[in-house]
Parts: sequence; C-alpha cells; structure tokens
Amino acid sequence: AQQLLLGAQTRNMGDEISLDEAKKKAARTAVDEWVKEDTKIVGIGSGSTVVYAVQRIAERVWKDGELTDLICVPSSYQAQHLILDYNLNLGSVDRNPIIDVAIDGADEVDSNMVLIKGGGGCLLQEKVVAACSKKFIVVADYTKKSLHLGEQWCRGVPIEVAPMAQVPIKLQIEAMFGGEVVLRMAKVKAGPIITDNGNFLLDWKFVGKREYNWDEVNRTITMIPGVLETGLFVDMAHKCYFGMADGSVKAQS
Ligand code: 5RP
Repeated sequence: AQQLLLGAQTRNMGDEISLDEAKKKAARTAVDEWVKEDTKIVGIGSGSTVVYAVQRIAERVWKDGELTDLICVPSSYQAQHLILDYNLNLGSVDRNPIIDVAIDGADEVDSNMVLIKGGGGCLLQEKVVAACSKKFIVVADYTKKSLHLGEQWCRGVPIEVAPMAQVPIKLQIEAMFGGEVVLRMAKVKAGPIITDNGNFLLDWKFVGKREYNWDEVNRTITMIPGVLETGLFVDMAHKCYFGMADGSVKAQS
C-alpha cells in the first residue's frame, strides 16, 4: 500500500493541493458518506485513489472501533492485498454476491457519468464488483472530470481480451469505430501485460472529436468474440466525488 502511495502522481502548483491530497479528500469523503454502521459489505476498487478509501475504512475499524464486521470484497489482487494489509475482513463475490456499496477510482468521468476505467488493468473484476453493488461510488481527483470522454489524457478505452483473439478484435474495432487499438505492453519486460485473469489488454485510442454513443459502443465491442470486458462503465456510477484543486470535494450524480 505504501509503495502505491509513493508511486502515485504528485503535482503542486501555487495554492493548489497535490493530486494525492485531492484523491485522499475524495476517497475519505466517499467512505464517510457511504460506509455506515449498518453497511455490511463493501466492494473495494483498484488504483491509487482507492488506497485512501481503504485507509479510511481501516482507521474507522482500528482507531474508532466501528465497522468491525464489515466485509471487503476486492476487485483485483491489488485490492485483495490492501484489504489483507490493513487487516480487514476479506470477502469475495462467491460468498458475497450482493454488495451494499462499492468504491472505485476512474480514469475519466464525463458529464453523463460514463466512466473510462482500467488504467491499472483491473476493469473486468472491477465491473463484476460494480455490477454486484447496490450503489457504485467513484472517487477521483479533478483531472479525471470531463465534459466529454477523451478530453483528458488517457490511454483510451482499455479492453480485456483473450490473448489468441487480440488481432481480429483490434481490426474489428478500428474498422467499426475508427481510432487505433494498441496492445498494452509491460514497461520493464518486453511483452504484453497479463491481467489478473490471465488475459491481454488492448487500449482503443478513439477519435477524440467524434460523438460516440458509449452505450452502443460498449455493447458492440462486448459482442466481439474474444472480448471479455471493456473499461466503459455506462449507467453504473451512482455518484462521483472529485477532490478539487482548491481542496474542496465536488460531488456529481
Ligand atoms: C484500475 C482502475 C483505476 O480505478 C483507475 O485507473 C484510476 O486509478 P487511480 O485512482 O490510480 O487514478 O480502473 O483498473
């Protein structure tokens, strides 16, 4: 957990708080508003912002003596390690298929609360956990907030695919929707990134200025044989909390 925090992006300009501070404020606010004494099962997303959410849950369990029976359902190996690191109760969607609330990060959030997720490669399990949750809450810093997807820097839309199907999937997406589809490679080892589920990741760099119907795009891509899941989360987020540069937290629902 500490390594994740140290590795997280930091920026400090004038009176603005750092991105890490912004993430922390969003995550802590979301936990305090959504994880209550009667919350039994919480889904834990992945990424650097979620680390602060888990820290806040752990603080309430271990310092304040609250939420001692709370079960945390992970959406990745990273989330599982976090839950164990902080000595919280580890659940699973096998045992806990109905989750009260899930808290997760995002790479970009548009004005309709369509999300791009999967920057960390955990989109498949994240979507399963989100879909099992009565409420899906997003936490992010202000750089993730957009009017339209593609405004902020991001890798594009991550897509988890069966390794043997990566080439036909790439060609079909490019033919149907334009842009470019790139196989995500590991930085250190020269080879594709392998997800927690043993698959490859494609990043679809869509055409930023084109108007996409994201629901339709998501459904169409998901139908291509060999596609396991996309990082487009449409009509899933109930509320987003953004840590803003001025230190405030802005909610969008
Ligand atoms: C991982 C994700 C993350 O939630 C997303 O990439 C945001 O990460 P961070 O909180 O580090 O900005 O979808 O697959």
